[in-house]
Amino acid sequence: MFRYLPEQASEIAPKIDALNNLITDLSLFFTVAIVGTMLYFAIRYRRTERNLVTPRIEGSHALEIVWSVVPIVISVYVMYWGVVYFRELREVPEDAMTIAVTGQKWIWDFEYENGKKTSGEFVVPVHTPIKLLMRSTDVLHSFFIPAMRVKHDVIPGRYTYVSFTPVKTGTFHSFCTEYCGDMHWNMLATLRVVSQAEYSRWVEDKSEQLMAERMSPVELGGKLYAEKGCNACHSLDGTPRVGPSYLKSFGREVALTDGKKVTADENYLREAILNPNAEIVAGFQPNLMPAFEGQLDDKQIDGLIAFIKSIDGSQPAAEVEAPAVTEVDTSKMSPAERGEHLYNTKLCVTCHSLDGSKLVGPTFQGIWGREGELADGTAYVVDEAYVKDSIRNPNNQLVKGFAGGMIPFPESQLSDEDINDIIEFMKTLE
Ligand code: CUA
Repeated sequence: MFRYLPEQASEIAPKIDALNNLITDLSLFFTVAIVGTMLYFAIRYRRTERNLVTPRIEGSHALEIVWSVVPIVISVYVMYWGVVYFRELREVPEDAMTIAVTGQKWIWDFEYENGKKTSGEFVVPVHTPIKLLMRSTDVLHSFFIPAMRVKHDVIPGRYTYVSFTPVKTGTFHSFCTEYCGDMHWNMLATLRVVSQAEYSRWVEDKSEQLMAERMSPVELGGKLYAEKGCNACHSLDGTPRVGPSYLKSFGREVALTDGKKVTADENYLREAILNPNAEIVAGFQPNLMPAFEGQLDDKQIDGLIAFIKSIDGSQPAAEVEAPAVTEVDTSKMSPAERGEHLYNTKLCVTCHSLDGSKLVGPTFQGIWGREGELADGTAYVVDEAYVKDSIRNPNNQLVKGFAGGMIPFPESQLSDEDINDIIEFMKTLE
């Protein structure tokens, strides 16, 4: 009874749960037994008439021994396993991977052994012992990852740690569980457990961080405009494409499809980026733009808004069009590497994950040779012809359960050779 514990995602979780459940069951049993007996006696022997004389009852050694020895045995048993599991919990395997965690009002920062830094999100490989070495720069916090069953105070001026071995991939929540100020409730971090291969790819990729650190908000926004594929649908020179142009769009009053008028201010733009279908400008179609909720942090959103503000017509569009994305020499790459490069630069990455998670489109993990059902009920197999058709005419053969809306890539944007490279890349994604 009372099995409300969260998902078990670490090696120690089932053991801790077993002990926790045992204690819960024992507590329940004794609560019912003691309170039940008490209530029964209160009713059974209630006063029915005045001046009754209570009989004199001597003690019972047998009873006293039973109710002393039985609880002692149970308590010692629970304590023994408590100590065993606690030691296991606090023992860090020698090959553990250390991630430095810094708590400060009101965000969690993470730093990896190779210098990679993240905020509010961290990634670890599955089946690898992890040690989080934690400190606080201001006040007392507490780091809690329910699915891993680890929690520890994070203290200014002292290191503390938690250690766990994740046993399944997925996304898990972690919290601050020590009241630390008025935004304490929002001091969260997402833990992503991924395959070893995906982790290696992720941890080596530092480009984003290095570039972003050196940029002004407008520059960062310009980079994101190109990287996240905004440029496919939003022009800078006033031409309407799939979405409204950015030219002079900031502060403009626009009519929405429902007839309402709104001013395109910071809050409108923020909402339009995070949740694009909430307020569609009249004349444009919904469900084409992917929602960026959870994919962009506040700094990036600020950057995009600053960039949109900067497209005020004061400079010719040619100068701001296509902000520089670092040129990469693809000639030395293998086909699969070129495919991966295309995957990242042609923004497949926005909608197709590599780790099995469902984004706007189907995941690329294990995609090659996959079989399934299309929206119209027919069967499909991912082969060369299917991939080509899906890139050229994405809405032709929609996989069941997906909404469509991917932008078609004509020959001018992606050659047949490019598609072959992407296919080679897909074959590597088991
Ligand atoms: Cu930090 Cu609560």
